[in-house]
Amino acid sequence: MILLVGGTGRLGSVLAARLTGRGLAVRVLTRDPARAAHLAAQGAEVATGDVRDCASLAPAVRGADVVVSAIQGLTGPRGVTPATIDYQGNINLIDAARAAGAQFVLMSVAGAAADSPMELFRMKHAAEEHLRESGADWTIVRATAFLELWIDVLTSTAARSGRPVVFGRGNNPINFVSVADVAALVEHAVTDPATRGRILEIGGPGNLTFNQLAAAIQAADGRTGTPRHVPRLALRFMAGTVGRIKPELGRQARAALLMDAIDLTHDTAGIRQACPGLPCTPLSTCLQSKHGTPTMSRPA
Ligand SMILES: NC(=O)c1ccc[n+]([C@@H]2O[C@H](COP(=O)([O-])OP(=O)(O)OC[C@H]3O[C@@H](n4cnc5c(N)ncnc54)[C@H](OP(=O)(O)O)[C@@H]3O)[C@@H](O)[C@H]2O)c1
Repeated sequence: MILLVGGTGRLGSVLAARLTGRGLAVRVLTRDPARAAHLAAQGAEVATGDVRDCASLAPAVRGADVVVSAIQGLTGPRGVTPATIDYQGNINLIDAARAAGAQFVLMSVAGAAADSPMELFRMKHAAEEHLRESGADWTIVRATAFLELWIDVLTSTAARSGRPVVFGRGNNPINFVSVADVAALVEHAVTDPATRGRILEIGGPGNLTFNQLAAAIQAADGRTGTPRHVPRLALRFMAGTVGRIKPELGRQARAALLMDAIDLTHDTAGIRQACPGLPCTPLSTCLQSKHGTPTMSRPA
């Protein structure tokens, strides 16, 4: 039995479909079972719980051979933060998995480090450290920014004006990876015990600025409008004002400022050499998929 926490999310839903599709028993833990209806229809068992509530984790991990954490709290409202979800929630889940004798696959971020300026990256790193010292058999998967998420953000902000919104200057190169590729690697980590004790880091085929990504989306959608930029000053102001009342907006503004400035490039050659069957989905396929062309392919 595989317990998948975060199975209702962007990555989790693709991963759950891959795991149930190969006939593996999957239990999805969610705070709201209604969100997991599509996973139940694929044959997954659905359990209700919250990683902040240890009492709800003991029954969820019972009988699990592998626990997968694909949770995040970056964009959550009050009480849902990198500290409460990515750090403490993962600690609770790791300890529950360890007590149940389950192996653990932790979804983390490329750039996770104790001294990262990005709060999320520090919290992921602290969870990684706890897992490594927990005594459980573990695999950590670190990924760069999810391409489909940012295609959705840029597409939806262009819906009214025809011009996507870019936060900051938009000329910092960032590595984007397709969720399909990440799901294939996590599936590999779940099913291959040889990955235990390893950190697997995945990125996409190239580094792109937000301005370049916006231009590619505009071209695919047949639009010509250039991006509207939210100036860095406005982001700083937002972090210091609105962010005090709505901390999630402050976190997002600070994250946007950092994405506009820090090194988020990645060379994906290492993981492609280590796992030659892993898909490496190009931007063009993700853009076609947005227009209804299926993109999922199973690695050899
Ligand atoms: N998005 C990116 O660009 C990116 C890049 C690198 C790594 N990652 C990592 O990849 C993983 C998946 O990211 P994603 O973007 O696919 O996530 P997502 O779509 O935002 O989904 C988040 C998931 O977390 C679960 N969750 C949140 N709070 C929870 C709680 N208190 N208890 C139980 N579950 C909780 C949600 O489940 P319910 O709402 O059903 O409870 C949901 O399934 C995360 O670990 C993330 O840090 C993401």
